[in-house]
Amino acid sequence: MNTEITSNIHYVGVNDRHKDIFEGLWPLPYGVSYNSYIINDEKIALVDTVEADFFPQYLDNIRQVIGDRQIDYIIVNHMEPDHSGSLALIKQYYPGARIVGNKKTFDMMRGYYHVGEDASEILEVKNGDTLSLGKHELQFVLIPMVHWPETMVTLDQTTHTLFAGDAFGCFGALNGAFVDSHMNCDIYWDEMRRYYSNIVGKYGVPVQQALKKLSGVQIDYICSTHGPVWHEYIERVMAEYNRLSLYNAEPGLVICYGSMYGNTERAAEVIARAASEAGVKNIVMHDVSRTNHSYILSDIFKYNAMVLGAPTYNNGLYPQMESLLSEIGGRNIKGRKLGIFGSCTWAGQAVKKIKEWNETTAKFELVGEPAEIKQSLSEETRKACEALGKAMAESIL
Ligand code: FEO
Repeated sequence: MNTEITSNIHYVGVNDRHKDIFEGLWPLPYGVSYNSYIINDEKIALVDTVEADFFPQYLDNIRQVIGDRQIDYIIVNHMEPDHSGSLALIKQYYPGARIVGNKKTFDMMRGYYHVGEDASEILEVKNGDTLSLGKHELQFVLIPMVHWPETMVTLDQTTHTLFAGDAFGCFGALNGAFVDSHMNCDIYWDEMRRYYSNIVGKYGVPVQQALKKLSGVQIDYICSTHGPVWHEYIERVMAEYNRLSLYNAEPGLVICYGSMYGNTERAAEVIARAASEAGVKNIVMHDVSRTNHSYILSDIFKYNAMVLGAPTYNNGLYPQMESLLSEIGGRNIKGRKLGIFGSCTWAGQAVKKIKEWNETTAKFELVGEPAEIKQSLSEETRKACEALGKAMAESIL
């Protein structure tokens, strides 16, 4: 089986089609891959590992490439356990391998696995340091907070291959091929935005700093830790990460609502209809109790406006909306327009709570007048919802 990507760089990663929810939070309808790579030179380097559950298959993948030879270096670009989980096991099979990482890498590694405690088994690198494997000349570039503080990338200057950690990654297992030019990539574009918005979305500024560090560097292959190896679509992938990390979005409206007995949902329908009649074509609607918030966040990273509405619950905000607000607020999203609506039976709190959240946390541009419904839509509150939908449309268009 040919696993070579280019000039003695081999794919040895695995597909996870078992896990339903990544990080216990994010659905995986297409699975996910944990990518790992071998640089098979005079010295052999393994770049990142995989989740420990997949170790037997992983070890077999490695042996298919290097046979009985020993690994000289294990490069750890990122310590999150989906990539570092096999470290302790791989060290048992390749005890002579030196682990390459930066100071923060080893602080985490000792805590997680009690590996790297002996100075002779590690090679600590700083930003810009290099390592020669023979023909392949590696350089390490620290890109903290993409996605953890210790994160770095490894650039093979010989083949212009970037081992990128989570950067440029996406959800979706690999179905046979691992290089983009050998596969249909259609599913990966939406899965990239969902991955970015769910996992990396908070760290727009560090992603921008990383992109600046890499600008001007010739890159022919991007070997991320999740999803396809990028070769044909490098420009598109870089542009998408640039857009997402700048929080740029296209005109469109995401309407998110909670509803217990359908009255708040009716209000959401009226708002959507009014926005549509006023000319907005990109409208998506999510019941916050039914759509996993993973997909809502992805749409909020896609479109530049949202309307949020929910019932009052226990003299506060409907819990599923409260949870969504926390998830949106935790991502430092910028440049969005916001409309608000809410409902109650006897004492309204929902509109007030969403407004407070926006003033203290999200700081989005408030559009139109919030629409507050008591019990069910009346002639007056229907008009308020229509006015909100129209105002959103005027703001978007
Ligand atoms: Fe795929 Fe941040 O780990």
